[in-house]
Amino acid sequence: MTVDIQITRHPYLDGKPKRMYIDGKWLEAASGKTFDSINPSTGEVLASVAEGDAEDIDRAVAAARRAFNGPWSKFKPFQRQALLLKLADLVEQYFDELAALDTLDMGAPISRTTGNKLRALGMLRYYAGQAVSIHGETIENSLPGEYVSFTLKEPVGVVGAIIPWNGPLTATIWKIGPALATGCTVVLKPAEEAPLTPLRLAELCQEAGIPPGVVNVVPGFGETAGAALASHPDVDKVAFTGSHLTGQKIVQASAGNLKRVSLELGGKSPDVVFADADLDAAVPGAGMAVFANSGQICSAGTRLFVEKTIYDEFTARVAAFSKTLRVGNSANPDTQIGPLVSAEQLDRVTGYLAIGRQEGARPLSGGERLTDGDMAKGYFVPPTVFADVNDDMRIAQEEIFGPVIAAIPFASIDEVIERANRTGFGLGSGVWTRDVTKAHQLARGIRAGSVWINCYQAMDPAVPFGGYKMSGYGRESGKQHVEEYLNVKSVWIKTA
Ligand code: NAI
Ligand code: MG
Repeated sequence: MTVDIQITRHPYLDGKPKRMYIDGKWLEAASGKTFDSINPSTGEVLASVAEGDAEDIDRAVAAARRAFNGPWSKFKPFQRQALLLKLADLVEQYFDELAALDTLDMGAPISRTTGNKLRALGMLRYYAGQAVSIHGETIENSLPGEYVSFTLKEPVGVVGAIIPWNGPLTATIWKIGPALATGCTVVLKPAEEAPLTPLRLAELCQEAGIPPGVVNVVPGFGETAGAALASHPDVDKVAFTGSHLTGQKIVQASAGNLKRVSLELGGKSPDVVFADADLDAAVPGAGMAVFANSGQICSAGTRLFVEKTIYDEFTARVAAFSKTLRVGNSANPDTQIGPLVSAEQLDRVTGYLAIGRQEGARPLSGGERLTDGDMAKGYFVPPTVFADVNDDMRIAQEEIFGPVIAAIPFASIDEVIERANRTGFGLGSGVWTRDVTKAHQLARGIRAGSVWINCYQAMDPAVPFGGYKMSGYGRESGKQHVEEYLNVKSVWIKTA
């Protein structure tokens, strides 16, 4: 067996089993069970991880409740801010290590995970700012007599956070950041495919001095640990990111205690290219809107609508661009496209490649799994452009979550708005044009949570992100995100 030198050198991968973090302690699963986390570039086992189940979730929720009712509830905004800033400093100090762990555990290229530094630190420092910016309102009322009425913003309580594998470090920060800012406590269940960075981040939470029970991390599978967290009667809110099918189960599971739910789900986002666009920018822009992270991004612009007059030229150029991208082991600094996260995801994506061909779509590039040399041991699919796609094909309607573009021609602006919206989802969208009128018409016309014009996938901690329709509800980032973790209490005082 060949062992990748990067793996043996990673300080976190020391051969010891990884335990779960509950109430400030590192514990084995109540059942004693473990599962393996795999490097998708090589198929090798990185670490064995404690496998949480309902009993572990119970322990973690109890710890989170005690912490919520205990000293944590007395922490002043300044103190919560200081903890978030301290955590940000630790993440900065260990950033290269965290990025490498994401790369090894879920396969995003090292160039991508190290490139996330500004975003990871920016989020933590943004939430640190939000911690001291929470306030209610004094509201004039019209009751006869004298009453003062005002609102208090209070933390919602114990939050269950369930995250997917496509960006473990930033997904974890995106959940625990607002929880810490608002004074909530959190039980986070990482994805079974990529639990390592969330566990390493829990070590940094401990080092930062975040009190026991405020942040708990319980790795395990969706149907067991995840389901137990989603249905737990003492959890006040679930913040979920993942597939719409699991999102529907989360909503059903929430009914028992009517816990609050926020959902950031998948998409089949339209990316619209007009003939008047700066095509030199639009070619790589539309390509990377899908190929980045091997297509494993919820808001990937996978339905590429191209104006008829440039359809052949533009799709040929995107296909040519896709062939220039270097696919390979994600630990290699030159790699631009890494593997898919797992054998299961590989089956899913190659299944859609076959479906696309059966439906009559024409692959201009990619289209088959890569198995040359060492790649046979990993889960590699090259960037793929399907031409001759129509709106009703499954590859144009269903989320593939792989590096697969479905390119569709269009003739007019009204038509493309209507067709862009002909999907159950509404997360991201893109528009490439030099015409400001068209840009505005699409920005208004597309029913989706984000519209990117002459760019794609721009994100900032201060700018809200989330879905319309089956892409979910609630917003992450921005002031709206913090509100998701707060209750509003109205107080009335009769003064005369
Ligand atoms: P998933 O939605 O099943 O998994 C996401 C998280 O939910 C994981 O932590 C998982 O353990 C947990 N989970 C699964 N079943 C659960 C349940 N019954 N109760 C509570 N938690 C549960 O997604 P999966 O299976 O990893 O990927 C399948 C497809 O979903 C992908 O091919 C992709 O199309 C989509 N997806 C979309 C994501 C997004 O960011 N929008 C992220 C991950 C997957
Ligand atoms: Mg893994």
